[in-house]
Amino acid sequence: MATRKPFVGGNWKMNLDLASSTALAAAVAAKAADFAGKTEVTLFVPFVYIQAVGQVLKGVDAVRLGAQDFYHEPDGAFTGEISLAMLKDLGVTDVLVGHSERRHVIGEPDALLNAKTKAALDQGFEVTLCIGELLEQREAGQTDAVNDQQLTAGLAGVPADQMDRLTVAYEPVWAIGTGKTATPEDAQAAHAHIRQKLAALYTEEIAAKIRIQYGGSVKPGNAQELFAQEDIDGGLIGGAALKADDFTAIVTAAC
Ligand code: PGA
Repeated sequence: MATRKPFVGGNWKMNLDLASSTALAAAVAAKAADFAGKTEVTLFVPFVYIQAVGQVLKGVDAVRLGAQDFYHEPDGAFTGEISLAMLKDLGVTDVLVGHSERRHVIGEPDALLNAKTKAALDQGFEVTLCIGELLEQREAGQTDAVNDQQLTAGLAGVPADQMDRLTVAYEPVWAIGTGKTATPEDAQAAHAHIRQKLAALYTEEIAAKIRIQYGGSVKPGNAQELFAQEDIDGGLIGGAALKADDFTAIVTAAC
């Protein structure tokens, strides 16, 4: 069995201000000795605070700098958008693609998410592709079908030799920010299915190496039993990533 290093992302979403962003990053960095070399960690910071947080994380190898979004075109007339080159300029190494809030609140379609995934991998970024079903889809028994569809569309045209920089975040939409968490058994079942689908799209060997994070109301109190599941390789953390103690407790639960 492939050994996968756990990976935990902190998705700050549209929260914090300049002072609290840098303070939070510094507090996470101060705990780096607890998880360095054991669990990979990325902070997904609002665009306008990336530069300041990047300064705080300078020299802290155990905590990577991430962006929550970007536009896939290299440059040009795209008012309000941020390119991958701009992010690279600030030291960003990791990006999120297809977070449920971008899919369902902002309305990003599969074709755009696929273009973003391909552009970011082409540019050398670590990409976390987020997938997951809505409550009505789960209740209709469509969880696996939705995950299959979002994976297939998101990864269309992505070559096998870039898949070592791809992480999948499985986030059931009904569990995000709601306090409801999938049971470890339900989450494991979805993750195992996602890994099977990755094997079908690529190879067993590639699928065995890909980290699949769980996301949706992960807290210090439930992280350990989720991360103990065979196919759960860490988490994507929203609300609990806004408190350094909670976030670092979740990270160390993955170690
Ligand atoms: P949550 O968010 O931990 O607040 O549920 C997770 C996410 O949206 O990535």
